[in-house]
Amino acid sequence: MPEGYLKELKRAEERKAEISQYLEKCLPERAKILFEAGCGHGHWLTSYAMENPKQFCLGIDLIAGRVDKANKKKEKRDLGNVHFIKAELGEFLEVLPTTISLEAVVFLFPDPWPKARHHKKRMIQSAFLEQLASRMEKNGLFYFRTDDRSYFDWTIEHLNESKFWQIKEGAEWLHEENTYFQNLMDGYFSVVAEVQ
Ligand SMILES: C[S@@+](CC[C@H](N)C(=O)[O-])C[C@H]1O[C@@H](n2cnc3c(N)ncnc32)[C@H](O)[C@@H]1O
Repeated sequence: MPEGYLKELKRAEERKAEISQYLEKCLPERAKILFEAGCGHGHWLTSYAMENPKQFCLGIDLIAGRVDKANKKKEKRDLGNVHFIKAELGEFLEVLPTTISLEAVVFLFPDPWPKARHHKKRMIQSAFLEQLASRMEKNGLFYFRTDDRSYFDWTIEHLNESKFWQIKEGAEWLHEENTYFQNLMDGYFSVVAEVQ
């Protein structure tokens, strides 16, 4: 195998080990959590966690500086029911202990990757929806919001094609709080789905 590839594999294993260690420290052995993928600066999740002190919440983001800002918000408000960690979504799901299930998963303004040749980089993909469904609690909910019409249509199409999810027409959004990106946008589209 090429040396560069082996190095990347090693780095991925190190990152996953770090995520595992952090999860061991911050989560109880068994828990049902509300999970935000790509939490950015943590505006939405800190606000949700404050209003729902009994709900265990976890946010992840790829960018360390954003996770640091989110953790500062959590510390300032002295919140014990929310944690933010630097992690990539696929790696996070790989190491999430099977004793932890997701009651809800939230995507707020995920990167839209507008060029067709980049669509494969979008978080929402058929295989991902199946993997995610396997980690959900019974009746677990999927919340997705974007300003990008093409990514919204893509997500609706993938949910409709998936036997693991059912769109809940007219479902309420679980908590309103502007995120950093929501503040920058003129409008947005939201969809809620339930795991099958
Ligand atoms: C457009 S920003 C939105 C941030 C926040 N949700 C908001 O509304 O302000 C998308 C975020 O997703 C994060 N992200 C992108 N791909 C990711 C991945 N595979 N795993 C974890 N985070 C990811 C980016 O680092 C970025 O902070």
